[in-house]
Amino acid sequence: MKSAPLDRTADPAPASDPTTMKAIIQDSYGAVAGDVLRFGDAPRPVAGDDEVLVRVVAASVDRGTWHVMTGLPYPMRAAGFGMRKPKSPNPGRCLAGVVESFGRQVTGFKPGDEVYGTCSGSFAEYACVKAKRLAPKPANLSFAEAAAAPISGVSALQAIRKADVQPGEKVLVIGASGGVGSFAAQIARAAGAEVTGTARASKTEMVRRLGVDRVIDYTREDFLDGQVRYDVIIDTGGNRELAGLRKALTETGRLVIVGGETDGKWFDALTRTFKSLLLGPFTKQKLLALMSIENSGDLIALKELIESGKVAPAVDRTYPLSETAAAIQYVQDGRAQGKVVIDVEGDLRQ
Ligand SMILES: NC(=O)c1ccc[n+]([C@@H]2O[C@H](COP(=O)([O-])OP(=O)(O)OC[C@H]3O[C@@H](n4cnc5c(N)ncnc54)[C@H](OP(=O)(O)O)[C@@H]3O)[C@@H](O)[C@H]2O)c1
Repeated sequence: MKSAPLDRTADPAPASDPTTMKAIIQDSYGAVAGDVLRFGDAPRPVAGDDEVLVRVVAASVDRGTWHVMTGLPYPMRAAGFGMRKPKSPNPGRCLAGVVESFGRQVTGFKPGDEVYGTCSGSFAEYACVKAKRLAPKPANLSFAEAAAAPISGVSALQAIRKADVQPGEKVLVIGASGGVGSFAAQIARAAGAEVTGTARASKTEMVRRLGVDRVIDYTREDFLDGQVRYDVIIDTGGNRELAGLRKALTETGRLVIVGGETDGKWFDALTRTFKSLLLGPFTKQKLLALMSIENSGDLIALKELIESGKVAPAVDRTYPLSETAAAIQYVQDGRAQGKVVIDVEGDLRQ
């Protein structure tokens, strides 16, 4: 494992068998990454008509990786991830890399372009990415930093947009030390808001470095006691009750529920969303839930924010591709500060 990555340029592709590649392979669902993921050889994918074949330089892990790996909660299996076993034999979803080739319907990309985006199967030397989920890599980021951004950054951008954050408003980001939260806190600041972020004690310093106005250690302080009332709450962790969240909102405040982990295997994660839908018509507060949509338009919007210098991925650490299972476990254990990156080519410069 390596620590925080810096920069590297796009080297030529390594000489190897053009039909195979190194990849993480998953044959069955399971909750322990070390049990269900193995590092080995896999067929190199070929771009479909609307796809771009990307040589993956770096990938990243987020909470969603664990859900894809476990097929939990169960409803997501019916939603297309595979009923009995994973439809994709590789749970990686975010990447940054270099365009190798593309399908005949694809326009706007050429071999050698540096890109970032989302796909199915990014824990591999090559991945096929729908062109509509790909964009040019932010020019000021390393591949490792860029790989950290697509899902967490776009989800955060969509959450802030959904909340319609205005300059001068008080915004509370619950889970500012996490993947989505670290981006949301910065994007809210970039929108001119006064931002408070929550984190456990060991991560408050990291959240402070994001440039927030105030950090609350949620293990010591009840941030929903109503002493401070926020115009907007972006909730990415902890599954606080709706009543508590509403108490900390102004009379016309907006809540965006992004997520929060539960032990439940069915609909527990959606309970607050259902309640907010029922309550919605009876309150002046706006109780909203995010269902993020990965798309190149928002990847480009995120790239512009990043290139403006107002937002930067918070990368905690980098693991080699062969140690992807350990990276997923690190995130699952709640140890990550911001994002965890997979160094696919094995030589990201420090
Ligand atoms: N709706 C959507 O479209 C969408 C999109 C992306 C992600 N999500 C969901 O959003 C959630 C966050 O994703 P992520 O990738 O950002 O996860 P993550 O990186 O693991 O971050 C989770 C955050 O939650 C905080 N947290 C954990 N327990 C808490 C508690 N009891 N009280 C307050 N904060 C607590 C953590 O703080 P500490 O680490 O400091 O304890 C951390 O900042 C996940 O449930 C994910 O599935 C939803």
